[in-house]
Amino acid sequence: MTIVPNSDGNVAAVLESAHARFKTVDRPIPKPGRNELVVRNHAIAANPVDWKIQDYGFAINTFPNVLGSDCCGVVVAVGESAFAGVIYNQDINHGAFQSYTILRDIATTKIPDDMSFEEGSVFPMAMATSLIALIVCLGIPKPTGSVIPQKSGLLIWGASSSVGTSALQLARNMGFKVFATASPAHHQSLKSLGALEVFDYHDPSVIDKIVAAAKSASTPITLGFDTVGEGNSANQAAEVLAASGGKPGKLALILPWPEGEQPEGIEISETGAYKAFTEYAELGKWFFNEYLERCLANGSIIPAPKFEVVPGGINAAQSALDKLKAGVSGKKLVISVDGNHPH
Ligand SMILES: NC(=O)c1ccc[n+]([C@@H]2O[C@H](COP(=O)([O-])OP(=O)(O)OC[C@H]3O[C@@H](n4cnc5c(N)ncnc54)[C@H](OP(=O)(O)O)[C@@H]3O)[C@@H](O)[C@H]2O)c1
Repeated sequence: MTIVPNSDGNVAAVLESAHARFKTVDRPIPKPGRNELVVRNHAIAANPVDWKIQDYGFAINTFPNVLGSDCCGVVVAVGESAFAGVIYNQDINHGAFQSYTILRDIATTKIPDDMSFEEGSVFPMAMATSLIALIVCLGIPKPTGSVIPQKSGLLIWGASSSVGTSALQLARNMGFKVFATASPAHHQSLKSLGALEVFDYHDPSVIDKIVAAAKSASTPITLGFDTVGEGNSANQAAEVLAASGGKPGKLALILPWPEGEQPEGIEISETGAYKAFTEYAELGKWFFNEYLERCLANGSIIPAPKFEVVPGGINAAQSALDKLKAGVSGKKLVISVDGNHPH
C-alpha cells in the first residue's frame, strides 16, 4: 500500500509543557531526512516511561513535544514495527503518539503479513531494553539462529512484564535455562514461552525455592536481569545469584540500584533501550533490521505480553498512560490509531 501524503492528516497527542496533560491537535505530516522513514501508525503502545516523563518532568525538555517509543504502521509497501526516538533526540516528529512518525531505519523491523499492527507495537521498547541487558550488560554473545545449550542458568525477575517476556524469549533462543518470577496467573504462559521454572515473587521463601530448583537442575544461575526495578527486586535478584552462582555473577538492572550498598562479588550494570540506537547502534541495526525480523517470520519470537486496546484512537493516549500508571499485569496497553480520534 502506498501512502498518499496528506491523505488523512497527522493527529497527535501533544505535551505542550512539562507536567501538562495531553492535548489532541493536528500537526503537519513530517518529512524524513537521510536514513529515516515516515510510518503511518496503526497501533502505538504505551510504556511506563511515558507517564513517568509526564509526571516527573525528565528526559524531554523541548516543548511542545510528542511522547511515545513504540509504533507499528505502514511505510510505503511494508508493515514496520519500530522504536521512535523522541526519548533520546527530543524531536517532536520522532514521537509515537501521533498518526505519522519519523523513524530511523536502523530502528525498524518488518512484521509478517499475518501479524496485526497491535501485536507488532509491543516489541520495540521491550526488545531494545532486553537486547542491551543480555548482550551488553551480561556479555552474552549474539544468537546465531540455532539454539546452543548454555551451562549457566539465567534469572529473569519479573518475567510477565513487557520487558520480561521479551527477555525471556531472547534468553530461550540463546540456549539458557530460564528461572523466572511472576504472579501465579502467568506461570503457565511463561513456561510456554520457554521458562524452565517460574516462581511466585510474593512467596517469602521465593529465593530459597529458586536456589533449590537451580541446584536440582544442576544449573548454577550466574546471570540475572531484574526487569522490575521496584521495591526489593534488585536485591532479591542479587541474592539468587550470590546463593546459586558459585562464581562471580552478573546482574543487569532495568533501573538504577536502589538505596544502599551493592553486594560484593556481583557485576551490576544498568540497561537502557536508547543505547540500541546510540552507542550500540550497529548492534541495534543488526537486531531490529535482521534478527528480530527473522525471528518474527519463523515464529521463534511471538508477540508478548498480550495487548489490550484502549479505545478512542490518538485521543486515548492520556487514558492509556493513566491506566498504565495505575498498574497492569501481563499485558501491553495499545492505542489503535484507526479508531476515531475526536478533538
Ligand atoms: N531502562 C530502560 O531503558 C527501560 C526500558 C523499558 C522499561 N523500563 C522500566 O522498566 C519497568 C518495567 O517496564 P515494563 O514496560 O516491562 O512494565 P510492565 O509490563 O508495565 O510491568 C508490569 C509487570 O510487572 C510485574 N511486577 C511488578 N512488581 C513485580 C515484582 N516485585 N516482582 C516481579 N514482577 C513484578 C507484574 O507482574 P505480575 O502481574 O506477574 O505480578 C506485571 O506483569 C518500568 O519501571 C519501566 O519504566 C526501563
